[in-house]
Parts: sequence; C-alpha cells; structure tokens
Amino acid sequence: MGFYREESIEEVRDRIDIVDLVSAYVTLKKTGKNYVGLCPFHSEKTPSFTVNREKGIYHCFGCQAGGDAFSFLMEHEHLDFPEALEELARRAGVQLEEDESGPFRGKPKDHSKELAINLEAARYFYKVMGSETGSAAVAYLLGRNVEAQTRRAFKLGYAPDSWDALLKHFESQDVVPTDVEKAGLAIRHEEKGTYYSRFRGRLMFPIENVRGEIIGFGGRVIGTGEPKYLNSPESALFQKKDQLYGLSLGLAEIRRTSRVLLMEGYMDVIMSHQHGFTSAVASLGTALTAEQARLISRYAREVVIVYDNDSAGIKAAKKAVQAFGDRDVLVRVADLRDAKDPDEFINSHGRDAFEEVISAALPAYEYLIRMGKKQHDMRNIEEKVSLISELLPFLADMNNRVKQAEYVRMTARELDVSADSIVFELKKHEENRRVKLKREEDTDRKHRLQKQQSKTSAAETVIPGERQLAGICLREPSIYREIQSEIEGLVCRDPLVRQVFDRMRALTASEKPFTFHDVVAGLQDEEIRKQVIPLCLAEHSPADPGTARDWIVSLRRAELRHRIDELMEKIEFLEKEGKMDELLEIGKRLRTLQSELNRI
Ligand code: CTP
Ligand code: MN
Repeated sequence: MGFYREESIEEVRDRIDIVDLVSAYVTLKKTGKNYVGLCPFHSEKTPSFTVNREKGIYHCFGCQAGGDAFSFLMEHEHLDFPEALEELARRAGVQLEEDESGPFRGKPKDHSKELAINLEAARYFYKVMGSETGSAAVAYLLGRNVEAQTRRAFKLGYAPDSWDALLKHFESQDVVPTDVEKAGLAIRHEEKGTYYSRFRGRLMFPIENVRGEIIGFGGRVIGTGEPKYLNSPESALFQKKDQLYGLSLGLAEIRRTSRVLLMEGYMDVIMSHQHGFTSAVASLGTALTAEQARLISRYAREVVIVYDNDSAGIKAAKKAVQAFGDRDVLVRVADLRDAKDPDEFINSHGRDAFEEVISAALPAYEYLIRMGKKQHDMRNIEEKVSLISELLPFLADMNNRVKQAEYVRMTARELDVSADSIVFELKKHEENRRVKLKREEDTDRKHRLQKQQSKTSAAETVIPGERQLAGICLREPSIYREIQSEIEGLVCRDPLVRQVFDRMRALTASEKPFTFHDVVAGLQDEEIRKQVIPLCLAEHSPADPGTARDWIVSLRRAELRHRIDELMEKIEFLEKEGKMDELLEIGKRLRTLQSELNRI
C-alpha cells in the first residue's frame, strides 16, 4: 500500500460532508451551527455528540471521542487510516494519488517484523510437513480426508517435535531469538535465559487477518493429547476477538453471496472450503465477540450459524445470536441432525446434504423457540415462564416493530400463552433494561468526571480565556497571522494552549496556508488532540479579530494582576523584615505594573 498525496487527502476531506457521513449511523438534530445526536461510541440517553458540518469535525462531550471524517470511520468501522481514506475517496469519487515520499498522517502500527517472522515460520512448517519428519502429520490429514490442495490453500504445516529446530532455522536467517519470542513462536526459559519453541510436534494452522497476513498460529496435537489446540499468545498484532479463521480465503465468496457460514472449529472451516463452501469462517475458540459480529456484518447481510451439535454448541449458538444484537444481519441457525460438527457432517453425508442443512437453517428466533421447547417441559408453568424470560432479550433486540410483533405472536402460539402477557413482560423487560443502562451511564459519567478531574489537577492548568483565544485562532487561522506578535507577547500558562500556539507559529513560519486540521494533526499527545477538537467547535464567542484582541487584553490584564499580587505579597514580607532598600525597588516595579494595567 502506497502513501497518498496530502492534496488527495484534503480533497476527500473537502468533498465529504461529515453530517451525511455520521447520519448513516446516528440520528442528528440541528441546533445552531452544530448537529447533535446520541454518541455511537458510548451509551447515553442525552445527546452529547456534536457534529460541525463547516469544520468537518465531531466531538462527544460525554466520552471525549472526537476527530474528523477519517477518524469517525476508523473508530466506527475499525479501519486503519488508509482503509478509511480509500473508502471515503470512493464515496466522494476522488481518485487518490499515491506519493511514495509524501507525509502520512498518524503512525500506522508497524508489525512488519512479526509478520515477516510469522510468514517465514509458516513456510518452514509447510516445508517440514513435506519432509520425512512430517510424514505422520501428512498421514493424519489424509486420515481426515484433507486433500493436498486444501492443505496448500490453508498453508497447513508441521512443527517438528524439537525444542530448538525452529530457532536454529531462524538463526540461519539472522533472526534473533528475542524477535522469535516477540512473534509468539518461542518462549524464554526463565532460569536458563535460553529460548525454546512454543509449538512442538503439532499440526500448524496459520491464522490470517482479513488482508491475508499471518498474525498467529493454532497448533493441534496429532491424534489425542492435551491441550488439543495451542494458539499463539495474544498480542497487539494477534487479538482473537477481532479475527475470524478462514475470512481471508472466503472474502470473495462472502462478498459475492453476502452470506457467511459461521462455525466453531478450524477443521470445520477447512472441510467446508474443500467441499466448495468457501464462505465458512470460525471464531477462534471463544464465544463470538461483538467485534467479530461487526466484522461479519461489514461483508454480509446474512449469517448461518453451524455450530457443534452438543449442549456447548447450542449454548454458543445462542450467545452468537446475541452478539449480533440489533445489527442489520439476518441470522439463521442450522441443525446438523446426527452429526457432531460440520466436518463430520460433510464427511458422512456429503456436499448436497450439507447444502440442504444450510438452506433449511431456521431464523435465529425460531431456533431459540425450538431449542427452548426441547429443554423446558411445556406442561410446567414455571418452566414456561423461565423460557419466556430467556426469550425476552432477543425480542427486545428486534429493531423492527412488525418483526417483533410477529415473533411475539409466534411465541404465544408455540408456548400456548397469550400474546398480551408477552407484550406486558416485554415492556417490563425494556423498562428494566433502560433503568440499568441509565444507572451504568451515570456511574460511567461519574468515573469519567473523576478521572478527568484528577488528571486536570495533576497534569495541567486550564485557563479558560487562553482556550477561548486558541479556539478563535483554530477556527480562523488568518486571525492568528494577523495578531501573532500580540499573542507572542502573552504568557500562556495552559500547556494545551502553549502547544497549539507553538504549532501555529511553526506552521506560519513555513508560509503555507494551514487549517486547524494541520494544527491538530501536529499535536503529539492523543489526549491533547481530543481536548483541542472542542475548541474548534466552540461557538459562544465569535471568531473575529476584535474578539481575539478583547481576549488578549483580558489575558494581559489577568497576567499583570497576577504579577501585582505576587509583588504585594513580597512587599508584605519585606515590611515585616524591615528591608527598606528592597522595598523601594519593589515599590517602583509595582507602580510600573499598575500604570501598565491602567493603560490597557
Ligand atoms: N480451540 C482452542 N483450544 C482448545 C480447543 C479448541 O483454541 N484447546 C478452538 C480451536 O479454534 C478449534 C475450536 O476451538 O478449532 C473448536 O474446537 P473443537 O471442536 O474441539 O476443534 P475442531 O476444530 O473441531 O478440531 P478437531 O475436529 O480436530 O477435533
Ligand atoms: Mn471437530
């Protein structure tokens, strides 16, 4: 991926209407120059999320999230900067121009070293699998009907049963053990200080992110043993909660069909792909996370859950349905009948039967009713009541009224209860949830406030007047240029304001016109950047040179008063000590300051 020219980025920024962009996710209401709505980044009931069309920025006064169109998309869709830029360029119809040497906003996290080590390790494991050492692993795969072509597609390999073979291999490539450890492939022996391979005698499943980069490994014992699977440790690069096994290989098919087959195991995904079901993916050994659900909803409108056919699998399927919440994805759940998992089903019944199972998958809610009726004795009233309370959260999540009403009717029919009583309980449930949310929101806000206060008192001084002045200059950089010398005469006590003006001075010196985006982009500290954004939005004082000068005057007066106060204290002290010559000197300085104060 190349770097894009700053001009292209600016063009995209100019053409994208941030209000339109945000409106796709948040209902906004116009108030004055700004638009406000409920913040999509934290849960709240009173809108504190503010968007300014003219400036192309947003800020949440509740959770301090803030930025421009790029950062909005990055945060909301979990994209990195180039991805967000490309998406917005596409929407704006801007042809991005690459510029190898151009400056790149923000520092992308650089995992290139770990990625290179993972890739090399995968190559090594693949090669070992093809050698004498890997013969048992090859036989194992054959025994499970994994064809050579599938093995290649999934880059399966074998980690030899050796403490140091992998490290020796890396040594020959001039890769030091500490780096192999950082990539999660080696472990340091605490006492000896030496390194050994994490994966030994295991079938290796490289795990790729959506871009096809190998970010980690799963390693299975050959045959039986504990643990059955060993995975790379979690790291900044490898976070299981964000990943889906098989997604990189399945992406084209998923996009084409707008459907995902969601499974539990590596082997289920592999066997599905081998039989042409290339939209199969698996979460990595944990319950489906909200992030994974979001990832799926980015590429598909429909997901069919094909989890294992045991009580753990059924429980996990329910959890997965829940993870989709009120996302705009049709969730269905398949029933594997007599087979324990998709791998076994395909192997014993074949491709066509699996296709039937998928098309017969029930809409999630119907599945929940069916399972519930199996697990609860419907002749027992208490059991019925407990099943209904299990179902309520799912009914409450339905964001379509018609759909909800239809499912209420279905529940009433299937459980032989009155629809009215379900509606009543549903209302109660929703009210409880609201109260709970509100309570959480309140404690959240309290915590944030406390955190902010302790941070403010410890690390910085906020001088409101200085921030007002900085705000005006941020909104109208031309004003800064006009009154730069007056600003430089000021003593700024607010570190945030000092940084803003330092940055503006540097930008002015380079003689290129700039906007507040350039100022904000140049601030190193993320926390400070977030605090600067609301200053760009402030509207209570107009951004004109007159107002700026008024602030300068009041700041200068405040500074003089401050210095006068200091001198007064000193005089009091000197009087007590009876130091006359010094008193004379200080008195003279005091009068100068006082007359200066009177002049302005
Ligand atoms: N898993 C894991 N660690 C374990 C067990 C399981 O990370 N100790 C994860 C793996 O991603 C695995 C998935 O959970 O693929 C499902 O587990 P299981 O059904 O036991 O594995 P299968 O992939 O079906 O493997 P196999 O058919 O070879 O038993
Ligand atoms: Mn299995």
